[in-house]
Amino acid sequence: MNFMDKETQFLCGLLELQYNATDIPAITKLSSSVAWAQGWPADNRAFWNAEAFMWSKKIDKETRQLIEKELAFLQKRRDHKNLDLGCGAYSYLPSVGFDFSEKMLQFNERCTKKVIGSLEEKLPFATASFDSVTAVFVFNYILNYQQLFCEINRILQEGGKFVMILSSTSINEWQKQKEVNSFTAQHWSLLLGYAGFKVSLTEKENLLFFQCQQKAYVFSCWPECSSRCGLRSRKEQGRKIISS
Ligand SMILES: C[S@@+](CC[C@H](N)C(=O)[O-])C[C@H]1O[C@@H](n2cnc3c(N)ncnc32)[C@H](O)[C@@H]1O
Repeated sequence: MNFMDKETQFLCGLLELQYNATDIPAITKLSSSVAWAQGWPADNRAFWNAEAFMWSKKIDKETRQLIEKELAFLQKRRDHKNLDLGCGAYSYLPSVGFDFSEKMLQFNERCTKKVIGSLEEKLPFATASFDSVTAVFVFNYILNYQQLFCEINRILQEGGKFVMILSSTSINEWQKQKEVNSFTAQHWSLLLGYAGFKVSLTEKENLLFFQCQQKAYVFSCWPECSSRCGLRSRKEQGRKIISS
């Protein structure tokens, strides 16, 4: 007889999965009895909710420290306002954390505020409301990346900074099942340029750092996206607009 409740049984299954010694159909069956895991592993939110329990161990300490060091320049003032998109269970500087996984957010101790929502939709933040935006190990999971770039541009203060970090090497097989794009660094730089950012790209320790400065509110690229994303409303607000 099994005396563990379904949630504990599901968590034990996840633990076994780390050692590749598991029966995925059996864990899938258990997931249907756990509210936050229903639909695992096919459902994206359930997948990331489950990842949250081991997340602090999935990225090594040295990598975390390097990213923290590289992002430290953003926080010039005490009242600096950073938005961490797809923050998961770990933010590298005090941030408003945004993620669709309530479990990831639950474990994140660096968030000054936690907001649940999807990165595939428009962001629930006011225009020009952040000094900087970060997205670490996230964009390879986003289908609607064009709209998201437009949204980042919209919510940044004029001249604000956006830093996107991605792995330059292939990610592990388990998370790879959720990857929806894997562009080259040059292609990402091009896309960021189209979205109105001046990009500086560096590579360190298998990490790609895209440091982006907001330079323009773009009308010439992705016209269907710029009108959908409300970039025109900035013009109406009398903000400076530069055509690219
Ligand atoms: C690989 S983890 C990175 C977490 C964190 N940035 C870090 O460096 O540890 C990807 C994160 O993106 C979130 N995510 C993936 N797709 C998302 C979406 N469509 N909307 C909101 N969050 C999403 C996941 O829940 C997860 O927390």
